[in-house]
Amino acid sequence: MDQKEKTKEKPEAFRAQKGMHDMLPADEPYWEKIETAARSLARAYNFGSIETPIMEDAALYNKTSGEESDVVEKEMYTLRTKGGDVLALRPEYTPGICRAYIEHGMSRLAQPQRLFYVGPVFRHDRPQLGRYRQFTQIGYEILGGQNDAIYDAEIITIIANLLAELKIKNPILKINSIGDRVCRPNYKRQLQNYYRNYEKELCEDCVRRLKTNPLKLLDCKQPQCQPFKEKAPNFLDKLCSVCKAHFRATLEYLEEVGISYEVDPRLVRGLDYYNRTVFEFFADGKEEEIGALGGGGRYDYLMEMIGGHATPALGGALGVERIIAVMQAKGIVPPARSPKKVFLAHAGALAKKNAFSLREELRKSGICVTEALARESLGAQLKVADKEGIGLALILGQKEIYEHSVILRDLGAGTQESVLVAKVVDEIKKRLKA
Ligand code: HAM
Repeated sequence: MDQKEKTKEKPEAFRAQKGMHDMLPADEPYWEKIETAARSLARAYNFGSIETPIMEDAALYNKTSGEESDVVEKEMYTLRTKGGDVLALRPEYTPGICRAYIEHGMSRLAQPQRLFYVGPVFRHDRPQLGRYRQFTQIGYEILGGQNDAIYDAEIITIIANLLAELKIKNPILKINSIGDRVCRPNYKRQLQNYYRNYEKELCEDCVRRLKTNPLKLLDCKQPQCQPFKEKAPNFLDKLCSVCKAHFRATLEYLEEVGISYEVDPRLVRGLDYYNRTVFEFFADGKEEEIGALGGGGRYDYLMEMIGGHATPALGGALGVERIIAVMQAKGIVPPARSPKKVFLAHAGALAKKNAFSLREELRKSGICVTEALARESLGAQLKVADKEGIGLALILGQKEIYEHSVILRDLGAGTQESVLVAKVVDEIKKRLKA
């Protein structure tokens, strides 16, 4: 067989799917820092963890996030099972969490229920900076209880605290109110009347949504539709008195805890279930182009949309990959949390066996051991220690087995001494501490 034929036979290498990423050990400090900070905030604010199935009935999202939202209309991964059910990979958590709240009768528990989550979501978006097809959301939801602005401020405060904890300074918080069932119909009509004048100049989606969901026009990202947003009627002028008071109270609570905000009357969010407060967080400076780091709002009607009772609810979610992208762009490096390690090497078959059980002893004593015990030559083993940057090695040879000892070698200084196995744990701990 000539070389050409050999190359032909080599199977094509697989690669991760477009817009999907591997999380490698080098990224671990970021993931660990973000998740630990998010979890400890969840605990501090009394949120319990929830995890829902990655797949749900696709209709759950059609009915809530909205059939005309980009997330459902263009980006949802759906599949038909052999039994004929149409399922979707979750494009977000919120509807699944509301389903779980109803399904498990959580309204009978103390209200409101505070729920925290972290996990993968899927959107068949066009991959670009900050836009992936599989990404990870961290979220906080408050379900049930009173329809009180103090909760709107609580969710926003938690997210602001998380970003502060991650050293992302001066994030931009954009906030708006999109009213409720009382004031929104009137505003929608005004928006339709305004946009009808420009129908010929709008993108295809906006022309269609103008009839069915005019609020969506304010969320359109097409360049040709941008100029019309500027002069569109302002929702804040049209809010009913109850929504106005709710919005004012939310802002006052934020001021109370020193969170600055920008009221953005064009902010409507891409999902259909929101009412009243909507918000988004961005990084400051040029990292703003990575996209919103987090967003959310109130969704008091969602439970009814899926067969539950009217239930005040709200929440917010952050995208972990975007947070990491911002941290890296800003040069924020979380400290590596990996423990100090010792390298265990053997010289000879009997010593290899003994080393295997010694590693168990050390592990039980809380010492992190790394090794290359499958290699036979001591030199080859110590090369691995060098590659991993480990400074302290334990070497076990035939002689040491009979003497119940091990050699403790300082790989940096090149010095070594013999230590009794009975004393080795204390000695290693002492040296690793130093
Ligand atoms: P969302 O704004 O669609 O809201 O997503 C929340 C966050 O997920 C965004 O702010 C962003 O950081 C991240 N994200 C969104 N799409 C992508 C993408 N393609 N690639 C990378 N990151 C992305 C929701 O999902 C709502 N469920 C939030 C919520 C919770 N509302 C109430 N409760």
